[in-house]
Amino acid sequence: MMEEGNEENTEEFYKKAMVYWSEIPPTIDGMLGGFGHISQIDIHGSRQFLRLIFQLKEPPGKSSVVDCGAGIGRITKHLLSHIFDNIDLNQAFVDQAKDYLGPAVYKKIGTLYNVGLQDFTPENDKYDVIWCQWVLGHLTDADFVKFLERCRSGLKKNGIIVLKENIASSKEVEVDKKDSSVTRPFHLYMELFQRTNLRCIRKIKQNNFPKGLYTVYMFALRPKDIL
Ligand SMILES: C[S@@+](CC[C@H](N)C(=O)[O-])C[C@H]1O[C@@H](n2cnc3c(N)ncnc32)[C@H](O)[C@@H]1O
Repeated sequence: MMEEGNEENTEEFYKKAMVYWSEIPPTIDGMLGGFGHISQIDIHGSRQFLRLIFQLKEPPGKSSVVDCGAGIGRITKHLLSHIFDNIDLNQAFVDQAKDYLGPAVYKKIGTLYNVGLQDFTPENDKYDVIWCQWVLGHLTDADFVKFLERCRSGLKKNGIIVLKENIASSKEVEVDKKDSSVTRPFHLYMELFQRTNLRCIRKIKQNNFPKGLYTVYMFALRPKDIL
């Protein structure tokens, strides 16, 4: 991982990812690096995780969600649009998302934020759920922490941030120079959460992915002061 404060490297890290994603076909397979066939299992696991979240004593509302690093809107279409009334998209493949989502889902889309998460500031008190999946490896550790803190301010009462990410197979960060991302080990997630004013209230491993893929965890984070 790059050293914090090394701005030139950081800029390069983000630029390379942008170039990488600009050349990827806007399909499920493109979004999932050739593993489009796991999408249904993924969505099923996420739905179960959300069910758990809605069973909390003080569950989030179902009016407003943002899909961060949305791509063509795979999660929006198959999961979020079935639950939430209004969906904002961050860093979507805008034209393709419109076609892919279809008119019924597209009606629920509010704002499209075409900006990297390192520069994305959710409006205060806007979201019941902030969904970040398979995108946070594109942020440096420092930006990851700052982004989560901004998300905290973007949550409505009882709001939740969900992260769903690959976990490194060893205790070390794995760097992918091709798409300019990192895969973090589990302990690093815990350490980074500690640097925020958020508490991880649920963490669950995704089941039933084919062997050979990274372990994937879902984390639910909530502001410390409301617990
Ligand atoms: C692996 S795809 C996942 C897409 C979607 N979350 C899903 O699970 O179907 C990664 C997405 O992150 C986006 N992305 C890459 N770097 C980003 C950044 N710095 N901020 C926001 N999105 C980013 C890419 O454009 C791409 O759509």
